[in-house]
Amino acid sequence: MTSSVGVIGLGNMGVSVLGACLHKGRSCVAVDLDRRKLAELAAGRTVVPEHGIEAILATALAEGRLQTGDTAKATRDCALVFVGVQTPAAGEQCDYTALEAVLRELASTSPDGQVIVIGSTVFPGALAAEILPIFTARPGLEVVYEPVFLRAGYGIDDYLRPGKLVAGTRNPANPPAVLERFFRDVVEVPARYVGYAEAEWIKMIHNAWMGLKISFANEVGALCTEHGVAPADIIDIAFGEGAWGRLLTRSHMKPGPPYSGPCLPKDAQILGGLLAASKHHEWFEQGVCRALRTSNEKHRQDLVQRWLNLGLGSGRPLGIIGTAFRPGFNEMRESLALDFIRAAQGVDAEVLAYDPMFEGIDRQAFALAARQNTFVESLYDTVSQPLERVWCDCEVVLVNRTLSDVERRRIQALGTVPRFVMDLYENGPLQAGRRSEVAA
Ligand SMILES: NC(=O)c1ccc[n+]([C@@H]2O[C@H](COP(=O)([O-])OP(=O)(O)OC[C@H]3O[C@@H](n4cnc5c(N)ncnc54)[C@H](O)[C@@H]3O)[C@@H](O)[C@H]2O)c1
Repeated sequence: MTSSVGVIGLGNMGVSVLGACLHKGRSCVAVDLDRRKLAELAAGRTVVPEHGIEAILATALAEGRLQTGDTAKATRDCALVFVGVQTPAAGEQCDYTALEAVLRELASTSPDGQVIVIGSTVFPGALAAEILPIFTARPGLEVVYEPVFLRAGYGIDDYLRPGKLVAGTRNPANPPAVLERFFRDVVEVPARYVGYAEAEWIKMIHNAWMGLKISFANEVGALCTEHGVAPADIIDIAFGEGAWGRLLTRSHMKPGPPYSGPCLPKDAQILGGLLAASKHHEWFEQGVCRALRTSNEKHRQDLVQRWLNLGLGSGRPLGIIGTAFRPGFNEMRESLALDFIRAAQGVDAEVLAYDPMFEGIDRQAFALAARQNTFVESLYDTVSQPLERVWCDCEVVLVNRTLSDVERRRIQALGTVPRFVMDLYENGPLQAGRRSEVAA
């Protein structure tokens, strides 16, 4: 075996990977069931109109770095074999017939140590359930799942310079050396090695996010047009932020708390009203803009119900850490904590709550912080509790903020944990060696 790369499946994906490898000076063995594609390739052409492919093929053929053949030739000649055959949708499932056929052949013919990179898209759970078992009898082979993100037509460039390079491997801490070298030589961004399942999910949520953005743009586009506003202009300004922008993809994307506070819930509600009044209201009824409201509300309700279920019946209070709508801000109107407190009051359950903004605050200062909201003002006794009391006296504690180092130390000094903790902010274990029964 040499440092040659075998590419099995010469569709849009395979041609992109082949072009990228050849561009970086690698020798390749190209394989496809369709002999016409192999003949085209040998003549320096491809049916896939990838930018730059013809010049790359011409150079590679002139230098004798491109051969065509079958899977047996690829396994014999190459240290790394990339598999990019089709995995079409079959209803809500994926049809892995073609992929499994190739992998079965590789499982029986590949020499030990060969790295098999699956570039074909597989969906969450498929590797463990259907794909990896093909290799059970071949522990000497290195099977890798690489979720690939390509734009048709610009696939070579995208393979060389992707937004991210991800590889799902058996042991992410110790990926195969042949793979590391391949990525270093061919792809111009550093690789992130993860487990198989993580790689499957990264592909899924990446594409779901793109679909969500497109659906969102279509819906707001239709709504704006209906109201006489040109969508392209406002979308450009609304989302065209610089490096300090707050809408960058990663911001706000922390699974845990639903949104709350004085702005987002109100704005989603008003948007809901605009959608209902629109001439497109039937579309919007099933749309993503409407889901801004329904999804968030459902998430809130589920969290509240879980907290009640865990805490009720014990005879002890229910606890909340973090009552302000935003950490470090002394405002409780529209905070998530109010939903929990209201629900507990509805079933006559006692709540003890702590927030650094209100701990030990005097009644007058709290009345001012309530900003004329009489319900918030009525919660003085509930929400001015010390952290220690909430932590020690409650059956279930909702952790609704990222704890400061001081708060963590205060909790650790108590040497105890509530029976149930629902942590919305991934604070991690709060007591070494002692665990609550549940996390959010
Ligand atoms: N097209 C893209 O830009 C893109 C991007 C990301 C992921 N993917 C994924 O990559 C995979 C391939 O997509 P595509 O669009 O290139 O598919 P495609 O249908 O265009 O090409 C698949 C090729 O595999 C060949 N093939 C099938 N079985 C074979 C076998 N046993 N041996 C050799 N060749 C075989 C077919 O003849 C065909 O040429 C899919 O899973 C797809 O979801 C594609």
